[in-house]
This record gives sequence, C-alpha cells and structure tokens, in this order.
Amino acid sequence: MQAISAIQLLDLIQSRRTCYQFASADTDPVAEEALLLCLEAAIWAPNHKLTQPWRFWQLKGQTRNHLAEIYAHNRAKKKATDHCDYECIYHKALDKFARIPEIILVGQVLAEEATTRKEDYAACCCAIQNFQLMAWGQQIGVQWSTGPILQDPRTYELLAIDSADIELIGALYIGRLKEPCNPVPARRKPVEAVFAQLD
Ligand SMILES: Cc1cc2nc3c(=O)[nH]c(=O)nc-3n(C[C@H](O)[C@H](O)[C@H](O)COP(=O)(O)O)c2cc1C
Repeated sequence: MQAISAIQLLDLIQSRRTCYQFASADTDPVAEEALLLCLEAAIWAPNHKLTQPWRFWQLKGQTRNHLAEIYAHNRAKKKATDHCDYECIYHKALDKFARIPEIILVGQVLAEEATTRKEDYAACCCAIQNFQLMAWGQQIGVQWSTGPILQDPRTYELLAIDSADIELIGALYIGRLKEPCNPVPARRKPVEAVFAQLD
C-alpha cells in the first residue's frame, strides 16, 4: 500500500465539502477514469456479511433527459409561487439540472430481514462516502442528494427496477471543482462535545 500520512487523510476528510456548483462539463469534464476510481473506492466499503448491497447507475443522453423532467416536475410542484409559477420553476429546474456535469444514482438492494436492511443502508452510506472522498482527492465535487426524484415511481421505471427489490438512496451530482463549490462555511462540533471516555 502506498503511504498516505494520517494528517493527509484527515485533511482530505476535513476539506471535502458538499458541492452545489461545478465547473462546466464543456470546458472541464469529469473523466470516466476518475469516476471509475470513485466507484472502485465505493465498492471497498465495509459491509456486513459481504452483502455488497450497492448498485450504481450513471445517467446519460435520453435517460438523463427523462430524469431531468422528473426532477423539474417535482421541484415545480413543491416550489411554485405567485411570483414564479409551475412553468417558471419547471424551466429553471431543467436549466439547473442541465448544468450538473455527471449524475450517478445509488440504490440499495433490499434484504428480506430488517436488521440486514439497516446494516446494508449503513454499508451503502459508507460506499457513498468512499466515493465522495475519492472524488475530492481528484478535485471533483459531489452533492449527495436524497431529494424527491428518489421516491418518484417514474425514476424506478426509468432504471427498470422494482422498488420492492431496490431502494434508491442517493443521487450523486458530480462535477469538477469550481471554487467556492459551497458558500456555507464547514462546521462541526468539537470532538469533546460528542465523545466521552468512561473508566
Ligand atoms: C444521508 C444524507 C442525505 C443527504 N441529502 C442531501 C440532500 O438531499 N440535499 C443536499 O443538498 N445535501 C444532502 N446531504 C449533504 C449534507 O447536507 C451535507 O453533508 C451537510 O450539509 C454537511 O456539509 P458537508 O458535506 O459540506 O460537510 C445529505 C447527506 C447525507 C449523509
């Protein structure tokens, strides 16, 4: 294994931010090899009983266009106001979606048993964090979204999956970094606030 110092690893973890804006895919696209490295990191996440419950779909072309319509519909339904009605929000949402360079949906294969399902969700979350860290290490930003497209039956139809078998748990919006990718400063409680040592 190539050495990476503890401080370098902590810096990677601490500097990673959820990104809401990205460099343009036209001028600064995300290389397929870079995404494959992120997926490689993801599948090495810990998972109890080696269930490997994660599934990933990269959306391109017509499939992506259909997802954009589902995204815009959900946004317009929720956010329409007198100031900007359904059509107005719908088109803004389509524009916003079109500016996301790459989209990967993440699903969890649903186990029969409740405890296994819970563990499998945890494993999928570990996989997503591995993905995000590998992305960040390559100057690629990710927004992990759990927005309404993941609950929309049309998204399941689009992927040709049954919601009884697989639950969509994350939409990863991905692009090369454009500073600042997130205007809100990073915040965490200090370790002392969340950690106790018991003798
Ligand atoms: C399970 C999960 C679901 C999330 N869902 C969303 C989401 O729907 N939309 C969003 O903007 N960010 C989402 N996030 C990202 C968090 O909002 C983000 O991690 C948090 O604000 C801390 O920011 P940081 O990632 O830059 O440290 C999600 C994160 C997790 C772990």
